[in-house]
Amino acid sequence: HRVSLIGAPTDIGAGARGASMGPEALRVANLGPILASHGVAVADRGNLSGPANPWQAAQAGYRHLPEVVAWNQAVHAAVAAELALDRLPILLGGDHCLAIGSISAVARHCRTLGRKLRVLWLDAHADFNTAELTPSGNLHGMPVACLCGHGPATLTDLGGLNPALPPSALRSIGIRSVDAGEKRFVHAAGLEVFDMRYIDEMGMRHTMTQALAGLDAQTHLHVSFDVDFLDPDIAPGVGTPVRGGPTYREAQLCMEMIADTGRLGSLDVVELNPALDVRNRTAELAVDLIESLFGKSTLMRD
Ligand code: ARG
Ligand code: MN
Ligand code: MN
Ligand code: MN
Repeated sequence: HRVSLIGAPTDIGAGARGASMGPEALRVANLGPILASHGVAVADRGNLSGPANPWQAAQAGYRHLPEVVAWNQAVHAAVAAELALDRLPILLGGDHCLAIGSISAVARHCRTLGRKLRVLWLDAHADFNTAELTPSGNLHGMPVACLCGHGPATLTDLGGLNPALPPSALRSIGIRSVDAGEKRFVHAAGLEVFDMRYIDEMGMRHTMTQALAGLDAQTHLHVSFDVDFLDPDIAPGVGTPVRGGPTYREAQLCMEMIADTGRLGSLDVVELNPALDVRNRTAELAVDLIESLFGKSTLMRD
């Protein structure tokens, strides 16, 4: 596949500063050259630009809503442009609010082409808050709700159709931190969640088999990889770590099983926070896992 790297250097939706340095940290960890070494044709489109982080308190339940909208409009346009060229966009975040822009573009692309869409949300968090439910006002805790039509019109209508996604297109994996009101809303919406309890009991292999069930040759698979999905012992460089995440081996298997489907069509890599990392090891781990997502395996396979 032909891949395009799109940097979105912002922490506009996060509760800690620093995710704005994520795109450079992934480049310093050699993301582009390493993918190229596996035969992937990579074009680095450089970084998008957008408003600075004013670091303000929430207004009407949202922190930095106008700035979040501006960044997501830029991401939406950039991702849409790559999909129109039949390329596979990799969004280098930036915080997870940017998935509203990228996934709304993917959803519009699939609607236009009559393709099915499956979104895998790899995350410690459900990111299903609304202005009424959020404990923080941080929009990185709300992208799934916005994509499912619950949020400000400036975000829910970004891709021209509200909702961008039915909950049935989504599978959330690795979840272990959900706020009280958010939990009720996840249940009410019927989101399919494979939480850590499920992974503990059933194993990553069965979890991924379930999460990938029903894909066919017409399905576009989008992976939204929040780096805090991983256990913080191996991935400390994130702003909202939650203990008890997938191990290195579990995360590898997750990525390898996604690669095996051959349906990966777009990817977000978000929430990497170099200001909180240790000698860039979280960025290097993310690159290692992305290699597996693009088909690198330990042994020769066909
Ligand atoms: N649930 C918390 C909140 O809404 C944390 C969200 C963290 N989200 C993330 N993408 N890291 O504030
Ligand atoms: Mn396509
Ligand atoms: Mn998260
Ligand atoms: Mn997230």
